[in-house]
Parts: sequence; structure tokens; C-alpha cells
Amino acid sequence: MRSGILNKPELGETLPSAHPSEDALTLLRMRRSTAADFLGPPGPDAETLADLLEIAARVPDHRRVVPFRFIVFEGEARDRFGEVLEAAFRKNEPEADETRIAYERNRFLRAPVVVGVISCVNKDHRTPEWEQVLTTGAACQNLLVASSAHGFAAQWLTEWYAFDADVADALQLDDNERVAGFVYIGAAREGPKERGRPDMASIVSTY
Ligand SMILES: Cc1cc2nc3c(=O)[nH]c(=O)nc-3n(C[C@H](O)[C@H](O)[C@H](O)COP(=O)(O)O)c2cc1C
Repeated sequence: MRSGILNKPELGETLPSAHPSEDALTLLRMRRSTAADFLGPPGPDAETLADLLEIAARVPDHRRVVPFRFIVFEGEARDRFGEVLEAAFRKNEPEADETRIAYERNRFLRAPVVVGVISCVNKDHRTPEWEQVLTTGAACQNLLVASSAHGFAAQWLTEWYAFDADVADALQLDDNERVAGFVYIGAAREGPKERGRPDMASIVSTY
């Protein structure tokens, strides 16, 4: 059954092997992140967010380990999580002034939706850990690209709190889990400027 925006294929359905699309190429050629400080409302509605997460999960995944999961922050949950950020930040930086503490507390309020992408490595699986981590990175990138195609600006951030043990506890991460990133999604208050890109001659060789 196809359900509106999700347009989800049936298991075993024959799919197109390619999707020629100038729009898709334009998106990929011009894609840029928008810094979270320049994001604001509106964010994706529930149906659109569900579609974004389905697309994010549709990544190459060797032996279908599904080595990732998503934690969605929206509405007042972003402020509630701010209490976790504030407590962790105060512990790390006891000398910090109140302006800085308020900034840290309000980080998740920068965008209407923040998706925590959690890497969940299955260490007993014969798919190497490295491949599982790469799959999770691909999920983050899919989420950015899909957000753009849905008309939203986004940024993939880790910042300090992705690496903080108290924050990990508050998120109830297991020992095999790490934050791959927090993807902030919303509307851009200001368009991003082009940034430097790799010198192709220095990264492409012919074997
Ligand atoms: C795993 C990961 C973590 C990142 N964390 C940060 C971060 O903490 N702070 C930051 O300013 N940019 C961070 N970035 C970079 C931004 O997401 C973004 O890629 C960059 O600012 C602009 O690149 P783009 O416009 O090509 O997307 C991170 C990128 C990756 C892949």
C-alpha cells in the first residue's frame, strides 16, 4: 500500500534502478548546511518528519544490521533537554557566566526539530564496526538531503554534548551506542554562502 507522502515500496517490489532528475542533481551540487544559529520555524510537520526519518533509514547497510536509531526532539522536549545540557555544562565549566550557561541550555531551541542520530554498533555481528559506523553517517547525510528536498534547511552537529558522558546517560545510550550527530532542521533565516570545496585534482587519481 502506498501511503501518501511516504510512497513506500512493497517488500520485493521491482524498483527503478535509477531516478534521472535534474532537480536531484541541482540539490546535490548546491547543497549547503545552514548554521543552527540561523535556523527557526517552521519545521517539518509530523507526516513530513516521518518521511524524513524513513528516508534517513533507507541507507546502504551491509547485512541489514540497522546500526542506528533516532531520537526526536521537538516542542517543549527541546527545552526539557536544555536542563540536561545546562547541568552537564555547569559541571564541565563551573566558572562559566550566566550568559554562556543560557546559551548552552537553549541550544536545542535553535531549530524546531532536532534529530539525534545514534550509532548502535553490534560488536558481535560479522559486519565490521567500521561499516556499521559508515552506514550511520550515511543516514545522517540522507536526513540532510531529504530535509532539503522537503524545503527545509538543516545542519549536522555534534558540538560538545555529543561526547559528554552525563548527556549520554540522560539519553539512555547503551555502551555500544554513541551520538553520530544532532541534525537540526528548520527554516533558514538567512541563506548560507558557498564555502570552499575540495580541489578535485588533489583528491582524485586514476588507478
Ligand atoms: C559528524 C559531524 C559533526 C559535525 N559537528 C559540527 C560541530 O559540532 N560544529 C560545527 O560547526 N560544524 C559541525 N559539522 C560540520 C557541519 O555539519 C557542516 O558540514 C559544515 O558546517 C558545512 O558544510 P556543508 O555546508 O558542506 O554541509 C559537523 C559535521 C559532521 C559530519
